[in-house]
Amino acid sequence: MTTPAEHLISVDGSDVRFACAEGDTLLRAALRAGVGLAYECNSGGCGSCRYDLVEGEMHDRRPDAPGLSPRDRRKGRKLACQSQPRSDCTIKVGQMVGQARHRPFRQTAQLRSKTLLTHDMQEFVFAAQSHAGFRPGQYAMITLPDGQVERAYSMSNLGNCYGEWKFVVKRMPGGRATAALFDDTEVGSEVTLDGPFGHAYLREDGNRRIVCAGGGSGLGAMISIVLGVAARPDSRDWTVHLFCGGRTRKDLHIPESIAFAGRQLGALNVHTAISDEHDDGVRAEVEGAEPFRGFLHEAVLDRLAGSLTDFTYYAAGPPAMTDALARALVLDAGVAADHLHYDRFC
Ligand SMILES: Cc1cc2nc3c(=O)[nH]c(=O)nc-3n(C[C@H](O)[C@H](O)[C@H](O)COP(=O)(O)OP(=O)(O)OC[C@H]3O[C@@H](n4cnc5c(N)ncnc54)[C@H](O)[C@@H]3O)c2cc1C
Ligand code: FES
Repeated sequence: MTTPAEHLISVDGSDVRFACAEGDTLLRAALRAGVGLAYECNSGGCGSCRYDLVEGEMHDRRPDAPGLSPRDRRKGRKLACQSQPRSDCTIKVGQMVGQARHRPFRQTAQLRSKTLLTHDMQEFVFAAQSHAGFRPGQYAMITLPDGQVERAYSMSNLGNCYGEWKFVVKRMPGGRATAALFDDTEVGSEVTLDGPFGHAYLREDGNRRIVCAGGGSGLGAMISIVLGVAARPDSRDWTVHLFCGGRTRKDLHIPESIAFAGRQLGALNVHTAISDEHDDGVRAEVEGAEPFRGFLHEAVLDRLAGSLTDFTYYAAGPPAMTDALARALVLDAGVAADHLHYDRFC
């Protein structure tokens, strides 16, 4: 077996050097080597991984990526998550984040089960050969069986030594990956998992009063965080507010594991929010209190009024939701920016 060629990457103005295997991206090679380049989405959407190429040849795997503005393009900027070195290169980055905390690795995994959760949400369970090493709230890149489409999905379970990776996926109307996952990927199909990635993981030594806000596709990451707190030896010292949002009641789903987790916690408060004023109240998937009428960030502001700055926040979901929450908490309510953790789903 031959090993792929490697290119040496040097970071301008520093003594940081790392190897990038042919075909790997600049960002992932850096993280695999423990080098903390800035990033969030790993998908070309957020622009956090912008850099300048000083020297060398770079292939751009998504030339139209929305993470670069017209101004960035005029200046020749690139995205580390979409760049594949074709030679030794020197790059210039605005900011290094020290050492990468979590080193991702690629492995194949088999689809073990797919379970319908709502009309447009399914749980996918994959089994890999080696351990599933990740922190609650992190995500992996899944390459679908055709080898062409790769997307980011957050794990909804906890890291484990038996190689089980669970994801909650919401179908995107007309979406390429979700159509392939929901309609064409059968139990037994093989995918490639690359991970873990992401900064919105549970801070275990931090504030023990936390809020988990998951809108639609963000549910999986928030389940993982609640389970992560419940598995801690000091779980009874923790207070958790879980907010789940959707357009109508039929978009809401609270898995049974949340109720079990609740028994291990000091307090678990589950809140739901629906944004469509024409919701007809049909099929309340979620038992309990009437959902808040409005957007998820409005539900957080309403239900925690007077105590917003007491909490550390984890959020996942569509960018419109996480942006609105960030604005409401940090700009309007005075929550410290480092008390809010999310990776943009863009
Ligand atoms: C950090 C993160 C975590 C996520 N976690 C979840 C989750 O747990 N559950 C969930 O349902 N969804 C999650 N998503 C969203 C998910 O990655 C997909 O965007 C979503 O499933 C729609 O994909 P699609 O191909 O069906 O839709 P499409 O409309 O075909 O594609 C939509 C998105 O795919 C990305 N994309 C498009 N082309 C490319 C390309 N060439 N290379 C890379 N990316 C491309 C873009 O971000 C785009 O917004 C997450 C996204 C991110 C960034
Ligand atoms: S654009 Fe590269 S991390 Fe988001």
